[in-house]
Amino acid sequence: MPLTTNTILICAGGACVSAGEESVKDALERKLKEYNLQDIVKIVETGCMGACSLGPIMVIYPEGVYYQKLTPEVAEKIVEEHILKGRIVKSHLYKGEKGEVIPQPQEEVAFFSRQVKIATRNVGVINPLDIDEYIARDGYFALHKALKEMTPEEVIQVIKDSGLRGRGGAGFPTGLKWEFARKSPGDKKYMICNADEGDPGAFMDRSILEGDPHSIIEAMTIAGYAIGAQKGFVYVRAEYPIAIERLTEALKQAREYGFLGENILGTDFSFDIEIRIGAGAFVCGEETALMHSIEGKRGQPRVKPPFPAQKGLWGNPSNINNVETLSCVPPIIFHGPQWFKQWGTEKSPGTKVFALAGKVKNTGLVEVPMGITLRELIYEIGGGSPTGKKIKAVQTGGPSGGVIPAEYFDTPVDFESLTSLGAIIGSGGMIVLDEDDCMVDVAKFFLEFTVDESCGKCTPCREGTKKMYEILDKITNGEGTEEDLETLEQLAYIIKDSSLCGLGQTAPNPVLSTLKYYREEYLAHVREGKCPAKKCKELISYVIDPEKCVGCTACARVCPVSCISGEVRKVHTIDQEACIRCGSCIEVCRFGAISKVTPAVSVEVEE
Ligand SMILES: Cc1cc2nc3c(=O)[nH]c(=O)nc-3n(C[C@H](O)[C@H](O)[C@H](O)COP(=O)(O)O)c2cc1C
Ligand code: SF4
Ligand code: SF4
Ligand code: SF4
Ligand code: FES
Repeated sequence: MPLTTNTILICAGGACVSAGEESVKDALERKLKEYNLQDIVKIVETGCMGACSLGPIMVIYPEGVYYQKLTPEVAEKIVEEHILKGRIVKSHLYKGEKGEVIPQPQEEVAFFSRQVKIATRNVGVINPLDIDEYIARDGYFALHKALKEMTPEEVIQVIKDSGLRGRGGAGFPTGLKWEFARKSPGDKKYMICNADEGDPGAFMDRSILEGDPHSIIEAMTIAGYAIGAQKGFVYVRAEYPIAIERLTEALKQAREYGFLGENILGTDFSFDIEIRIGAGAFVCGEETALMHSIEGKRGQPRVKPPFPAQKGLWGNPSNINNVETLSCVPPIIFHGPQWFKQWGTEKSPGTKVFALAGKVKNTGLVEVPMGITLRELIYEIGGGSPTGKKIKAVQTGGPSGGVIPAEYFDTPVDFESLTSLGAIIGSGGMIVLDEDDCMVDVAKFFLEFTVDESCGKCTPCREGTKKMYEILDKITNGEGTEEDLETLEQLAYIIKDSSLCGLGQTAPNPVLSTLKYYREEYLAHVREGKCPAKKCKELISYVIDPEKCVGCTACARVCPVSCISGEVRKVHTIDQEACIRCGSCIEVCRFGAISKVTPAVSVEVEE
């Protein structure tokens, strides 16, 4: 075995790969070879390290120095400076609040140090394509324990005692679901992993599959043993090619090691897993639609009951769990239910992975104990606003969720608390909004998504969401009325009550929660033609302050429709009729002479 003095972990998660990880890795390999260090320095490609906006990222051990925003040139420099001479390359280290460099942010920066990693314990740490690395971190020990020392009922009891709840959206107790499937009569049973992950902005499931595929294989096999299934399916969307590739390789390795297939670990339990690739429709994440899709039918939901535990795949009892839920299973079996319950709250034990996005400094994936407050998540871990603007609210749970205003930021993040505020944890999407975000526009954005993704099977969802979208569009165009708000609310409740599946039942949530907390913003749109956040294009104008304009011509040069006129060193003016409100001019004016006003003005006031 070659002696390694340094190990370079390089993030090969989807975002870092898109940011050029491969060329960085090639450059590292090239340079190491040039100095004949290829056997002494080990390069390990890992899954997502969490801070995706900083990619490509790598960490050099033993010191644990964290490099970000790498390029091939910088990678070469790091080999020559850091690896060869022990000199840290400061230009690509993590930067703190005041721009200071932090070589090991894992210990010092809350974004990293406040995390508790259970579901993502191996992501960003091991080579996902090396089963031995998984085993070295207790991988497949839980499977061994379950098969050799526990009855299926005991396995179920441990999961029940742990209080683990589904991370796919609904938060249903996992152990109870397994028990239903176990007790459901039938010789043939199926275990399904839901890796459809359709919520815009959420990518924790992809990260786990890309970074730790063996954890899902191990968990599914344990679940298969518990419920009495012989076969499992992972339903994963085609947009996740890296996840599919790594899972395929991991399945092969698990079979070779005897963790899958006939008589697993010498027991009489046999189980195998197949991958099924979905085309990426959001509704196919709904469990009955997903099962139809696996069966080769059109991916449309059906009425429940019967639930999957009674009648699932091809009419057989089936159990379906989300990727993140499953990823928690092996450590719970290995360490016991009390270990898991040391984190989180009484009713929502453990941790949850969130995809932090929007107006926060630190965006990316974070796994934190349930019960952490929104304030801690947004300000301590997320680092607060990157611009100093006032953070106004957070949108949680994607298109099925809702907004939570800043005055509720001391609320603990758990299933019940967020639901009581009209939002949900959902799959863990968390978009931070500031004073520049219009709440009507936010609601419209999510509704547009659900209109597009509605499968069309039932009328309230198919027609109702479209109607709601049209009303929101009218409001953001300044053509809405107060009656429209009433219609919007009525429609929302009808759609919630009468839609066939969760998509329709939750689609009105973003509208209802913004109406609940930000009705005055809706009213400003319909009564005064104003968009308080100055976001809705039809309700704003860009104007030039003649007192401040020095006639530098910068704005006129960037205007895509040439609607700014004025001579050099003379006050410029905007032709409001021609302006398309693209905002380019405001960005280039160094004199602060251009501003947005609402309501829109038709003719600019000239001095
Ligand atoms: C429209 C819709 C989309 C859904 N998409 C997903 C998804 O992408 N991933 C997921 O795990 N669950 C999704 N769900 C929830 C699943 O139907 C199901 O409850 C979940 O996979 C169960 O796993 P859990 O108990 O581990 O959370 C979706 C539900 C609905 C109504
Ligand atoms: S609620 Fe929407 S997505 Fe669900 S079945 Fe009805 S039309 Fe399809
Ligand atoms: S960029 Fe600003 S200062 Fe320059 S001409 Fe335009 S408005 Fe005037
Ligand atoms: S907002 Fe865009 S279109 Fe309007 S004046 Fe400025 S640059 Fe021109
Ligand atoms: S993909 Fe590299 S940090 Fe997320």
